[in-house]
Amino acid sequence: MILSSTRQMLSESLKPIREEGLRLGLVPTMGYLHEGHLSLVEIAQKRSDFLAVSIFVNPLQFGPGEDLERYPRDLERDLALLRDLGVDLVFSPTFEEMYPDGEPPVVVDPGPMGQRLCGEHRPGHFRGVLTAVARLFGLFHPQVAVFGQKDYQQAILIRNMVRELEMGVEIALGPIVREEDGLALSSRNVYLSAELRADALGLSRSLRAVQRAFGEGTRSGVKLGGILRREVENHPLLQLQYGEIVHPETLVPLETVVPGSVVALAAHCGPTRLIDNHILEA
Ligand code: PAJ
Repeated sequence: MILSSTRQMLSESLKPIREEGLRLGLVPTMGYLHEGHLSLVEIAQKRSDFLAVSIFVNPLQFGPGEDLERYPRDLERDLALLRDLGVDLVFSPTFEEMYPDGEPPVVVDPGPMGQRLCGEHRPGHFRGVLTAVARLFGLFHPQVAVFGQKDYQQAILIRNMVRELEMGVEIALGPIVREEDGLALSSRNVYLSAELRADALGLSRSLRAVQRAFGEGTRSGVKLGGILRREVENHPLLQLQYGEIVHPETLVPLETVVPGSVVALAAHCGPTRLIDNHILEA
């Protein structure tokens, strides 16, 4: 496994890959890897000849008062996991390597869809995400990049960016990997005490409650939204930030819900902000 921490090392390592015409895959991450990340690696390996993973906790996507400083990190452990999976290259730049001019003067604005759902509560977050991902695409020129459905809005905004800016990167989505009891894996789950973790199950439970009602024929967005909120409220340590049933491409809330609509929510669980979503099935 090749380890690159500078842009120059990266470009030298990727030169022969490009010359040989190999299909390059990329899985961008912020590290502290779990089975969710690793599932994306496996998907990407099947779709590429040479697979790179980036590990970079991107300060641009954290707002003031968010958890940038305490965001969990363990590069040695991450490298061991990726080596075991047969990843070909890991890029783990410092801030200076990623952004040589400091805070970048040129950024990627996600447009109005970046203001919805999480964007409404985390101003500037998706601008930070897209700016980092665009830069990674510029450094790697991957043929394919894989993202998780866990961050549904992020994945849609990245797809939009690639389409709008004609970046020529194929974007694949991996399903949400969950604990057996339903909690979606997240690097941030390490923040949860046993008590908080028990109530954190309210997120996936509320998604299942909405799926159940939808399966039984409820189509009203208002009614399904009410079912979601009631289930979250059964978990006193959860504070719902938003819970919406939206169109899968436009992210606009729906009056009439159809199969393929997305139930998305964010809630504070103690001091930790968690997100989850579910694509409704008929
Ligand atoms: P990070 O939170 O580390 O997530 C990296 C990738 O793993 C994302 O595509 C995310 O959707 C996916 N992922 C997270 N939890 C998952 C789960 N339980 N199941 C499946 N996939 C999961 O998302 C980011 O980093 C950053 O915003 C990044 C795209 C790297 C830009 O900085």
